Amino acid sequence: MKKIKEILAQTEFSKADLVCLLQAEREERQLLFEAAQARKVATVGKKVFFRGLVEFSNICAKDCLYCGIRKSNEKVLRYEATDDEILGACRFAWENRFGSVVLQSGELSSPAFVKRVDRLLQAIKKMSNKELGITLSCGEQTKETYQRWFESGAHRYLLRIESSTPDLYHKIHPQNDLHAYEKRQDCLKLLKECGYQVGTGVMIGLPFQTDEDLAEDLLFLKKLDVDMVGMGPYIEHEDTPLYAYRSQLKTKQERFDLALKMVASLRLLMPDINIAAATALQAIDPVGREKALKIGANVIMPNLTPCDFRKEYQLYEDKPCLDEDAALCRNCLEARIELAGSEIGYGEWGDSKHFYRRQ
Ligand code: 5AD
Ligand code: FES
Repeated sequence: MKKIKEILAQTEFSKADLVCLLQAEREERQLLFEAAQARKVATVGKKVFFRGLVEFSNICAKDCLYCGIRKSNEKVLRYEATDDEILGACRFAWENRFGSVVLQSGELSSPAFVKRVDRLLQAIKKMSNKELGITLSCGEQTKETYQRWFESGAHRYLLRIESSTPDLYHKIHPQNDLHAYEKRQDCLKLLKECGYQVGTGVMIGLPFQTDEDLAEDLLFLKKLDVDMVGMGPYIEHEDTPLYAYRSQLKTKQERFDLALKMVASLRLLMPDINIAAATALQAIDPVGREKALKIGANVIMPNLTPCDFRKEYQLYEDKPCLDEDAALCRNCLEARIELAGSEIGYGEWGDSKHFYRRQ
């Protein structure tokens, strides 16, 4: 097997190289982290961008086997934030010079939902004199819907592929048309065609997932030539079918470590993209997101969801910031202090450099 040092000196990486990076331990892992950190500073710089996350509804038509807000979970109280609540959270982001917000929800495609998102986009643009950037994360939609939302002011879209290995994708989703792997892949293409900056990502440490699957995920992201990636550890949720496989999981710490190695490897593979420090990292380690920022990530998403709703948006166990008011969010404040070493990109959209290079 090649030595890590040899691999780190390369600019192109094979699947075997990536597996090797993902399996690096101790000094070798440290070398990977240092190389990724250096590559990050040299390409996207030291700036970290804030995206205010607004989880505006947990009503979902889908039934992903890992997700706490899946349709069949009757323990969840379903909510929909009002326009005023959503606009209030966005105003907070704008006044605090966050640069942009992410509107995220469960997946719905009714005409009423499509119209509502459209109306919200226009209202946010108006409220912020078109200054606030808007990312949507509202699942699979038709091309017409994506186009309509783009024209109303959304310019980035997040849709995680969850796992790029079709076999594994099928194992973690119900077997029906609503959860087809091909449809999800098509949506990523449609989003690009509409002109969005496209973000995707995967879960790390899923049951049945191998290091080879994760290396394939990295190559998938590269092949799709995405602009942004958000990926974090899989965290089991008691009220989901995948919980039955918890005895087969790596420990939380192992999943966390693997997630950091995924972020570092991705920074080497795609040096100029935006990489988010996933919130799920913080569910395992209180400074997990900051650790990811150090070794390759350059985006963080402070939670601005109105507090009353947060406990009903538990995609996984131990989701952080459950009862901290946005303005007082201690975890987020701590993150900022921790970040003093890097600069915060206040007031900037912080677009992916990669997006402009591929135009
Ligand atoms: N553990 C970790 N991440 C999860 N997500 C959903 N459920 C879980 C879980 N149990 C992630 C998915 C989804 C994103 C919004 O949250 O990747 O795309
Ligand atoms: Fe809502 Fe997967 S359960 S999109």
